[in-house]
Amino acid sequence: MLSTSQIPFKDRLKDVAKVVEGDLKALLTFTPPKGISWPDRLFEAMRYASLNGGKRVRPFLVIETARLFNVEGEGVRRAAAALECIHCYSLVHDDLPAMDDDDLRRGVPTTHKKFDEATAILAGDGLLTEAFVILASPKTHEDAKIRSELVSCLAQAAGAIGMVGGQMLDIAAENEEKNEQEIRTLQAMKTGALLRAGVEMGAIISGATNEERARLIRFGEVIGLAFQLADDLLDVIADAETMGKATGKDAEQGKATFVGLHGVEDVRNLLREQVKEAEELLIPFGDKAATLKEMAHFIANRAY
Ligand code: IPE
Ligand code: IPE
Ligand code: MG
Ligand code: MG
Ligand code: MG
Repeated sequence: MLSTSQIPFKDRLKDVAKVVEGDLKALLTFTPPKGISWPDRLFEAMRYASLNGGKRVRPFLVIETARLFNVEGEGVRRAAAALECIHCYSLVHDDLPAMDDDDLRRGVPTTHKKFDEATAILAGDGLLTEAFVILASPKTHEDAKIRSELVSCLAQAAGAIGMVGGQMLDIAAENEEKNEQEIRTLQAMKTGALLRAGVEMGAIISGATNEERARLIRFGEVIGLAFQLADDLLDVIADAETMGKATGKDAEQGKATFVGLHGVEDVRNLLREQVKEAEELLIPFGDKAATLKEMAHFIANRAY
């Protein structure tokens, strides 16, 4: 059983991360049928890419949103793990030489450095696909309609009009002048979509009303923007040791960011505005939303 709301936020985040890590380990352990040549190296790379720490913010959002509706248990945790699989895959591919070309992730060599590029590409593909194997199972929810809504939500968030589309825009925008609206769209897609999916999946699996769902989706969008703003700020103000990944790379690679457009202080102000809006959106959920509210603060406070 997960800890209660009396536990300090950071401990709760750690507790959930531990649960997610355990679930991923179990879900990404495959048993070979006899007599089949088994791609152990692929499985090893998939586990390497996903069992290496990470804040587990997206699964936390699934789990905590479901808790607003007093829903918890294996189904919610499977949905949370599926989303984290997509996130980990996105990081493996984001780090490839053809993309951001990074050697360090979560404090250890990136998957293509530890293995090789082909294995990293396939490990990403494997994690992406496995996410939907996990969601489609009746163990995630007994009602096929809910499962299909979860699949649809995650597929849209991950795909061409979500994370993948955003990554394309991110690359296309390198060394190009982008205005605020263009950067907003890019970030909402590449990062916002998966955070939004966290709260939306939590709402779907809990049977939230349309109104509750719409409000939570908006909350997800607001913290999604805040999350990438903080990541871009940290790229400028933090060091690689603290972050577990290289910093100072956005300017070097000519990435389109708010920090590049407006500077550190303006972005901090924008972050404050996002947190305020996020808090307001949670008001109708009362005390039950205390942990989600703290998550909004946690996302922004990383960048001060
Ligand atoms: C990093 O995400 C990639 C972005 C979308 C900015 P996280 O900061 O959530 O990375 P981990 O999972 O904690 O390593
Ligand atoms: C990554 O954005 C977004 C996705 C992986 C979808 P970044 O390229 O800024 O993430 P980091 O800084 O490498 O973690
Ligand atoms: Mg990138
Ligand atoms: Mg990157
Ligand atoms: Mg970054």
